[in-house]
Amino acid sequence: MSKTQSKIPVPFNPDDFRKEGHILVDTLSDYLEDALSGKEMPVLPWNDPDQLAEYFSFDSFGCEKESMDHFIKRIIENSIHIHHPHYIGHQVTSPLPATALVQFCTTLLNNGAAIYEMGPVNMAMEKNVVNWFGSAIGYPKGFDGIFTHGGTAGNLTAMLAARQVKTDYNIWEDGVKEKERPCYLISEQAHYSLGRNVKIMGLGNKSVIRVPVDKCFRMRTDLLEMLKKEAEQEGKRIISVVASSCSTATGTYDDLNAVADFCEKYDLWMHVDGAHGMGVLFSDKYKYRVNGIERADSVVIDFHKMLLVPALNTLVMFKNGERSYETFAQKASYLFQKSQKNVWYNSATRTIECTKSALGIIAYSALKYYGNDYYNQYIDSRYDLTSIFARLVRNNSQLELATEPESNIICFRFAPEGFDVTKVNQINSNIRDRIIKEGSFYIVQAELNGKIWLRLTIINPVTSEDDLKDLMNRVLTLGQEGIRKMD
Ligand SMILES: Cc1ncc(COP(=O)(O)O)c(C=O)c1O
Repeated sequence: MSKTQSKIPVPFNPDDFRKEGHILVDTLSDYLEDALSGKEMPVLPWNDPDQLAEYFSFDSFGCEKESMDHFIKRIIENSIHIHHPHYIGHQVTSPLPATALVQFCTTLLNNGAAIYEMGPVNMAMEKNVVNWFGSAIGYPKGFDGIFTHGGTAGNLTAMLAARQVKTDYNIWEDGVKEKERPCYLISEQAHYSLGRNVKIMGLGNKSVIRVPVDKCFRMRTDLLEMLKKEAEQEGKRIISVVASSCSTATGTYDDLNAVADFCEKYDLWMHVDGAHGMGVLFSDKYKYRVNGIERADSVVIDFHKMLLVPALNTLVMFKNGERSYETFAQKASYLFQKSQKNVWYNSATRTIECTKSALGIIAYSALKYYGNDYYNQYIDSRYDLTSIFARLVRNNSQLELATEPESNIICFRFAPEGFDVTKVNQINSNIRDRIIKEGSFYIVQAELNGKIWLRLTIINPVTSEDDLKDLMNRVLTLGQEGIRKMD
């Protein structure tokens, strides 16, 4: 015991922690069992936002008498149930239990992963995950990588590197030269974070040059030459092409070799947003979808999507690891001694964030406990199931498919004959609204070429063909009801 006792109450009671921790794990295990079994429970217990805020309001902070157990149950009851087989909506995944448990541990340890001293285990594990991914991608020696909180931050990190490397002055120090506007070629179907990142960089919308897509929503690489020429005529300078593996709305993979050929020809930075679809690196059957990935200067992979770990957890890989040190030229003498600047184990020199949670430990745990074999089966089964659902849709004359799926994302809609686009859009919006509010499924919607589609991400390992048939029947029933109401 220290000589001078702290005057404030000590908030750490190991006995309480143990007791409440056991109750918590029991409660979560029961919950997991219920959710996975597809028990009768609304996938999203729908509440009006204001009412829910009111429900969680309290008079004074710190005086609550509610037991932890009861509090946790109320959180669970009002949450969306990601482990439920009818959760087929967004790309946020059902975390693997081992990763949730390890994250429980890292949360208490709270080792901030900015510099080695503050998170030694994290940095050691991060290095091993980076090495694993580097060889999975097929990068030559010299690659490196870092973790960020989310794909948006990961894409921004890579795009900043592109800007620093491919402009011939020090844009980080001097800012953007008025005359020479650095521009990114980005597909019309790329995730919205990519265009937004360019604006965050202060380059404005004029630095985002949209590449049209073909009828399968794949980037039209045949237009890259023309778009570059047009941009140059306007005094712009293309520095990078961003490809999607795969895109968010339809899950379509861009042709990476075509993008790489163009980038190599003009010495441009090739970035691949693989936040969703880069998990195919684990799949013997679908790996070909990212043929050419080893030619990319940078790649983003979200572990919290197809690698089943808790959000947020993103890895940014650089073909030439040295490039990642050029992105941010910060001076923080209290953190980095001069001689330590370019060392892999102080990741804060290379990310937007300073303090980070122990993302490397969580990713490492996923690979350690599930690994290649599990992911190989998981990716194949989800992609295969999505193709099976596509076939069901194609075989039903009342349904329409936006495009043949290439991943576990699929867009379809109720498309009765004899109704105009506006009416069909309205019917499909209503279908989704009914479905999520009744809690039978959780699905999302996407707009493509002016049409509203029902969009699924078949990400949960327990979702089955029967679940999808049930969804299809529900869509058809609600669609028919929608038609009757229009009459
Ligand atoms: C292709 C793609 N890139 C980037 C992102 C953004 O990732 P995050 O939500 O982790 O920031 C998403 C999110 O859905 C995505 O689908």
